[in-house]
Amino acid sequence: MRILVVGSGGREHALAWKIAQSKLADKIFCAPGNGGIAQQAECLGIEAGDIPRLLEFARKEKIDLTVVGPEGPLAAGIVDEFQKAGLRIFGPRKKAAQLEASKVFAKELMAKYKVPTADFKIFEDAGEAKKYLALKGAPCVVKADGLAAGKGVAVAKTAAEAEQAVSLMMEEKAFGAAGNKVIIEECLEGQEASILVITDSREVIALASAQDHKRIFDNDFGPNTGGMGAYSPAPVVTAELFKEILQKIVYRTIDGLANEGIEYRGVLYAGVMLTKDGPKTLEFNVRFGDPETQAILPRLNSDLLEIMLAASAGKLSRLRALEWDTRACACVVLASAGYPGEYEKGKEISGLEEAAQMKDTVVFHAGTKKSGEKFLTNGGRVLGITGLGATIKDAVTHTYKAVEKINFEGMHYRQDIGMRAIK
Ligand code: AMP
Ligand code: GLY
Repeated sequence: MRILVVGSGGREHALAWKIAQSKLADKIFCAPGNGGIAQQAECLGIEAGDIPRLLEFARKEKIDLTVVGPEGPLAAGIVDEFQKAGLRIFGPRKKAAQLEASKVFAKELMAKYKVPTADFKIFEDAGEAKKYLALKGAPCVVKADGLAAGKGVAVAKTAAEAEQAVSLMMEEKAFGAAGNKVIIEECLEGQEASILVITDSREVIALASAQDHKRIFDNDFGPNTGGMGAYSPAPVVTAELFKEILQKIVYRTIDGLANEGIEYRGVLYAGVMLTKDGPKTLEFNVRFGDPETQAILPRLNSDLLEIMLAASAGKLSRLRALEWDTRACACVVLASAGYPGEYEKGKEISGLEEAAQMKDTVVFHAGTKKSGEKFLTNGGRVLGITGLGATIKDAVTHTYKAVEKINFEGMHYRQDIGMRAIK
């Protein structure tokens, strides 16, 4: 089979790496890919958001399955366009992708179908939002409705912070039309976990649980990032909690969408807060998590391509249960100096081969570029070093040994990936 992966980050590298292990895969392309993905796939000069060119390529090259990494093209309707052209693609259609592309849509759906989530109120007017804040006080969470590259959420400790966030989103339009509506919601407390499932709208296959580390610095200080590391499984998600999350959050959401006439096919990612009143939904993503995918897929023994083909064809029920490596997996993200703010590119990376040669280690590239025989940094998150171990502690210790082999100017990473689980 000929496969096209859309995207260019660590998640897409993990997807291409896993798909390459499938007996069904003959040739993999990635648009646009990165320096590391070129080890598994032929990288193309087509951006992930350029749906017309992706479509033209898939048609001409007789692609059997397209797998979409990022949310942007899904929200823009890439799945609808491919299906109209008779091409098979893994991911939800535009209507279903609203679950991530519009937090207002997601919240209203959750309210209607009794999916546990933080109490909330929706505002279309900055003045009204501020009046409400004056009444309610802090802490609270302010969220822009639309896609804002992970920056549209402000967890405000004071009313002043919350007001600032409202001004930034609704008046200054820092995220454009994404801030036309905002949600002000209750601040939840607890540990976070990421639950990813693959579904064809009828059947649901859960992937192993994971936990992300969103803040840039150790002990969860500093600004939010795309994710600085992850591990799988997340031991806080006991078998009982997992079942509860599937029943109250995942199934209710997929069935609720179906009841609205919206079929959901693809990966559904639920960001969950484990509160003392039970698991509550923080957000939905309509795609694989980054860097959760890098920590989950090395543990998956089953053929991911087979699963994605079945889901995209609406035939998931034919698959047997997934097989997992019982070991734990950790992923440590190596970032450029300055990330998540401004950063420089083009720094030479050393030690990649030494790290990759270590047993039970995979080096996933997120923002790299090949230049002759050298690899250069080419993004904020540069690499995701991933290691397996008998326990999370072993996986983490092993991964940091691999991290020590690698260097580039200004390299920054968190030293505490997995510490919460280890404690
Ligand atoms: P989201 O994009 O909605 O997942 O928000 C990003 C991050 O903000 C989450 O991973 C949480 O750490 C935090 N967050 C979002 N909503 C809430 C909430 N209601 N209470 C506390 N923290 C939240
Ligand atoms: N790791 C969080 C996300 O993929 O959105």
